[in-house]
Amino acid sequence: MSIDYSERIPNNVDLAEDRRLQRALESWQPRFLQWWGEMGPALPTQDVYLRTAVDVGRAGWANFDRVRLPDYRWGIFLAERDPDRRIAFGQHKGEPVWQQIPGEHRASLQRLIVVQGDTEPASVEQQRRLGLTAPSLYDLRNLFQVNVEEGRHLWAMVYLLHAYFGRSGRDEAEALLLRHSGSEDAPRILGAFNEETPDWLSFFMFTYFTDRDGKYQLGTLKESAFDPLSRTCEFMLKEEAHHMFVGTTGVDRVVERAAQLMREHDTDDIARHGGIPLGVIQKYLNFHYSISLDLFGGETSTNVANYFSSGLKGRWQEERRGDDHVLTEAVTAVEHPDGDAIVSVELPALTALNHDLRTAYIRDCDTGVTRWNRILDSHGITGHRLALPHVGFNRKVGAFAGCHVTPAGQIVAAAAWAARRSSWLPTPADKAHVESLMRPVYEPGMIAAWLAPPRSGINGQPLDYQYVRF
Ligand SMILES: [Fe+2]
Ligand SMILES: [Fe+2]
Repeated sequence: MSIDYSERIPNNVDLAEDRRLQRALESWQPRFLQWWGEMGPALPTQDVYLRTAVDVGRAGWANFDRVRLPDYRWGIFLAERDPDRRIAFGQHKGEPVWQQIPGEHRASLQRLIVVQGDTEPASVEQQRRLGLTAPSLYDLRNLFQVNVEEGRHLWAMVYLLHAYFGRSGRDEAEALLLRHSGSEDAPRILGAFNEETPDWLSFFMFTYFTDRDGKYQLGTLKESAFDPLSRTCEFMLKEEAHHMFVGTTGVDRVVERAAQLMREHDTDDIARHGGIPLGVIQKYLNFHYSISLDLFGGETSTNVANYFSSGLKGRWQEERRGDDHVLTEAVTAVEHPDGDAIVSVELPALTALNHDLRTAYIRDCDTGVTRWNRILDSHGITGHRLALPHVGFNRKVGAFAGCHVTPAGQIVAAAAWAARRSSWLPTPADKAHVESLMRPVYEPGMIAAWLAPPRSGINGQPLDYQYVRF
């Protein structure tokens, strides 16, 4: 089904047929635009070369044009409905999926949608000021693309809240615009979404590690027995791929530039040559990876076991798994601190589903590290390696919260950990150095000296294309 762009809210959910819902969303729209004006990109622009979804099908969802940011057509787009779709897991496995929500699951589903929905505007708020220091017009355009799509993901969740959860859904939709990243009185729900994204190295790490958490959460909701949620998440995942691309290639280019400078000046200390030293890149990686792991929650959770059994939320790539998809008998090994050792314990697979998801995520994160090390190799730099720290490092949530684990995976005393903290996590001096490099480069085709240029432009455009006009 294609998207109706003649409507105030472009959609492929037949909004015009449901006047009550249409009116409710139309009254939410000005509040969204007000939020975008106040909390969205701080840099004024004339227009931006953006991708807009005009259809959810293969051909239509990536339509490029110059757009004034506040005129971006945020809409409600669900992937095509599969009339034969059946529940793939849990107690209702094999039954048809739900088009309406069974009463007993309302509260849980609403909570899942609110928590996901809360992250979408949060990242726009976190990235609000980055445009002021963009390293190139290409990067500036990518930032805005990510921002408008996170805005659309908010729309996706708000649609579900309005369409399926009545009064309490409308209240929650309202509240999504009232909480703000880092706010004292009304912070965002999850920790990582209240951290700052003050510079572009943080932005690339965020889009690599934290957006990737989003990909995995959406992957579990895509399996949901509640079909509208599944179809919404399926389409969001398509857009999410670009956010991963921004993170992966962003870090590629920081590493590439670091390697060039190390070769050119024959030193690791490239800070005084205008680069970001590998040690600093590793510390930023340690930070963003560890706070993103916290987003997976505790390793074990009876809530999540219940979500699975009742069909609300599946596993990553549920249908590709070779097991019974019910998991009442299965066990799995989970790492756990025990005194000053880290041991592996066997737990029921059903209660360890957060651990299962996190494991898939870690495997995925590892591919980036391999790729960045390959860049170092290609520059003949063999003495340095980037690495993911141990899963227990710097954790505030789950089995390792309160433990002092080194990046290498050793449990040490609190004082010993604190004494070495500055070699593992960004220090005020590291942040000040990164910040000192953040100067806007707005001439077409030019790029900041701390970053290598991208391999190619957007949608076949040349690198010196005017991706943003002021
Ligand atoms: Fe998103
Ligand atoms: Fe994203």
